[in-house]
Amino acid sequence: MKLVNEANLPGSRVLLRVDFNVPVEDGVVVDDTRIRSVLPTIRYLLDNQARVIIASHQGRPKGQGYEREFTLAPIAEALSSLLKIPVKVTHDVLGMQTSADCEELQPGEVLMLENLRFDAREQENDTEFAWALASLADIYVNDAFAASHRAHASIVGVTQFLPSFAGFLLYREIETIHRMTTRPDRPFVAILGGSKVSDKIEVIDSLFDVVDGLIIGGAMCFTFLAALGYSVGGSLVEPDWIEWAGEAIAKAESKNVRLMLPTDVITAKEISEFSLTTTCTVDNIRDDEMGLDIGPQTSDAYCEYINEARTVLWNGPMGVYELAPFVQGTRKVATAVAMNQKATTIIGGGDTIAAVSKFGYNDLVSFVSTGGGALLELLEGKDLPGIAVLQ
Ligand code: 3PG
Repeated sequence: MKLVNEANLPGSRVLLRVDFNVPVEDGVVVDDTRIRSVLPTIRYLLDNQARVIIASHQGRPKGQGYEREFTLAPIAEALSSLLKIPVKVTHDVLGMQTSADCEELQPGEVLMLENLRFDAREQENDTEFAWALASLADIYVNDAFAASHRAHASIVGVTQFLPSFAGFLLYREIETIHRMTTRPDRPFVAILGGSKVSDKIEVIDSLFDVVDGLIIGGAMCFTFLAALGYSVGGSLVEPDWIEWAGEAIAKAESKNVRLMLPTDVITAKEISEFSLTTTCTVDNIRDDEMGLDIGPQTSDAYCEYINEARTVLWNGPMGVYELAPFVQGTRKVATAVAMNQKATTIIGGGDTIAAVSKFGYNDLVSFVSTGGGALLELLEGKDLPGIAVLQ
């Protein structure tokens, strides 16, 4: 894989694919982690007098043209204030005006194409669309790690037509994950949370081969607790995966992986900021209540083990951390991860990143992966199409 610093940049038009699929509320970017993460590549291109054409998707528009909700204009504004230079957005993805804007772009200037997914051909990996995108530039750089699991035109198709390079973020993501899974300092502890175990089965299977311990939180723990025969009341359980969870518990034992599940939980009758909560052991969950956070005894045990770790991977919150009654488990785990400065700590997934930023720990973790689905697929041992074409 060639890195962007091997490209001949001065005066060249560079099509830079990024993943600026960031949360926008009322026309304002509310989490700019993904934008900041690409700044080193953008600054490098600008410092080397490239003409930078940024391309990204945002959300899941219908693919039938402009939709206000998904315009990249607020993102261009956020980027412009970070770079302290103007960043114009084109009227459409491809078109005469867009070609003219690219043509007029000067060395050291940035232009952003409108949301690639306004054109359905992006997700179809349409060859003509990829060719048209490529014809706007001389060089292609992929710094969209978080979108590299998608075989779309701007990720895969375009590489047929332009000399293609990896950006610094893409390279760092792959290198960090590779090092973590092949040469981790031990003990290596993975913490998985989130609502559905079905989203994480392949990751759990792969992690069993590399980790020393696996900590489970979030609603997905209830499918495991159900497999152990506990009655979990109204907690979220995926009945189709109970048998698999039972097998996973046995597999952890046979592979000598310490699998940690909650011993107590915080329950409530409803998910609300004003919920009345109960703290109970997992064999005492009431029929009319649901588990919405891990309990204090569980979080203490989890934190103790996290303190011992020398590599930590965390993906998925421990409970409904957005609401005050259910924030404790995630807060305590985040604190333990952030405070373990002897370990390499890697976090990933939108909710986990949001939780860690909410508690102000962003600068205390070793690496914040921008990947959601892409990170999980990489951890599952899959080849990501966007990376495969660069190799
Ligand atoms: C992500 O946020 O994981 C990427 O931007 C991919 O988005 P998608 O799931 O809509 O393809």
